[in-house]
Amino acid sequence: LGDDELVVASNRQPYSHEREDGEIVVNRPAGGLTSALDPVVQSAGGTWVAWASGDADHDVTDADGRVGVPPEDPAYDLRRVSLSDEQVEGYYYGYSNQVLWPICHIDPSKMNARADFWEHYRDANRAFADAIADETNDNSLVWLQDYHLALAPRMIRETNSDVFCMQFWHITWPSWDALQTCPQYEQLLDGLLANDLVGFHTRQYCQNFLDCAAMLPDTRVDRATRSVVYKGRRTFVRPFPLGIDATNRRHLALSSADTRFWNEFRDEHDIGDTVALGVERLDYTKGIPERLAALEHFWETRPEWQGELTYVQKASESRTQIPEYQAIQDFVESEIERINDRFGTDDWTPIVYLNEYLSKDGLATLYREADLGIVSPRRDGMNLVAKEFVASQVDDPGVLLLSELTGAHDELGDESISVHPHDTPGFADAIETALTLPETERARRMNDLERLVHSNDVYAWITKQFRTVESIQHGRDVAK
Ligand code: G6P
Repeated sequence: LGDDELVVASNRQPYSHEREDGEIVVNRPAGGLTSALDPVVQSAGGTWVAWASGDADHDVTDADGRVGVPPEDPAYDLRRVSLSDEQVEGYYYGYSNQVLWPICHIDPSKMNARADFWEHYRDANRAFADAIADETNDNSLVWLQDYHLALAPRMIRETNSDVFCMQFWHITWPSWDALQTCPQYEQLLDGLLANDLVGFHTRQYCQNFLDCAAMLPDTRVDRATRSVVYKGRRTFVRPFPLGIDATNRRHLALSSADTRFWNEFRDEHDIGDTVALGVERLDYTKGIPERLAALEHFWETRPEWQGELTYVQKASESRTQIPEYQAIQDFVESEIERINDRFGTDDWTPIVYLNEYLSKDGLATLYREADLGIVSPRRDGMNLVAKEFVASQVDDPGVLLLSELTGAHDELGDESISVHPHDTPGFADAIETALTLPETERARRMNDLERLVHSNDVYAWITKQFRTVESIQHGRDVAK
């Protein structure tokens, strides 16, 4: 990082303070990006700006909303941005998750483009930008995360025109025709093009972004350097496929070798000898109904697998205030009940549905013991569950079934069994292929997958971005 001072910004915060039985407790990230970035910001120092989502967040901050974290040994400042309930409704549940999310996942019929959602999104981005600008100086490196903050870079620039801004977009970037269905496409591009560097998971999303930028008036897209010149500045566009902390995942899998949990789990749920696993938030992009249809077709056409294969669906509730999310949850639950009624017997459950809290160890055991990992989204920017499954296969090697509509398929597609979520019979065939692969073939594929997941882990993701920053900054110095 050199002399740069890091300012990270994301919607979710790495630590939240909540009130429980009158006491203030600290919640730490359970997974995902915040837990991966936290050690990086701890070692680099600096500031992390995020939405104050905890009900006791402001009982521990100073007048500007800052608190040192980790609480027991502060290494950096967490600066919390307060948003009213109405703003959260409009910015997070509204524009972020009912406009940008469906558009980017190419499902525009789910878009709800209410005018007030947009206003709240703009106001929340302004609140973030003000807090970020307040934390920056000319040596700052501002690193924005994801689709919640598309307008913030332009707003930061208005205060500090020289600061280095970069943004990583964690979801798909769609083609121009899909983006165009969003009424504010121009403002979104204008916001993002105030960054010096914009990162996506894949080359295809970079390509899509450059194509979209080319549709704005007064832009010049330079395909050779993969950059866009707009309003007198150049924005570089690069792929940085996100990875996981693979070593940590592997350790978790190795240390969860306690077979008691697994034996109890098997007895409690009457599961077959062969286990397939799916792990996700209950989101319509994840393709859970499509997967259930493929499994139903599989059991129907291959009755010999009834009593033998159990599918375990670990699901977490997500964004439940949005009707589409409530609907997908209800549908998934009723489909599972129906399929279990159809095929289940006294000593075999076709589908085990887990929607309660599961300990880290419990999840690690499921990941390790599963024979098939099924990851079949209708659309997914990357999908880290695929990588978590691979890194946890420390025993008898299993098989990964992976939708070709995920960013992860770009990296892992060759060694997994590809599925198309909407091709029900083809999906069922793929399940059979995966279940009948010879052991040597399974081992070879899993070995290659492990290598990929370990070499392209979250630390490689971070390093590649900082190297790119360095070379852009160097180029800037040379140009001066
Ligand atoms: C996606 C987004 C993340 C987000 C996560 C969970 O992976 O890219 O930014 O944090 O979903 O969703 P939530 O709305 O609960 O933060």
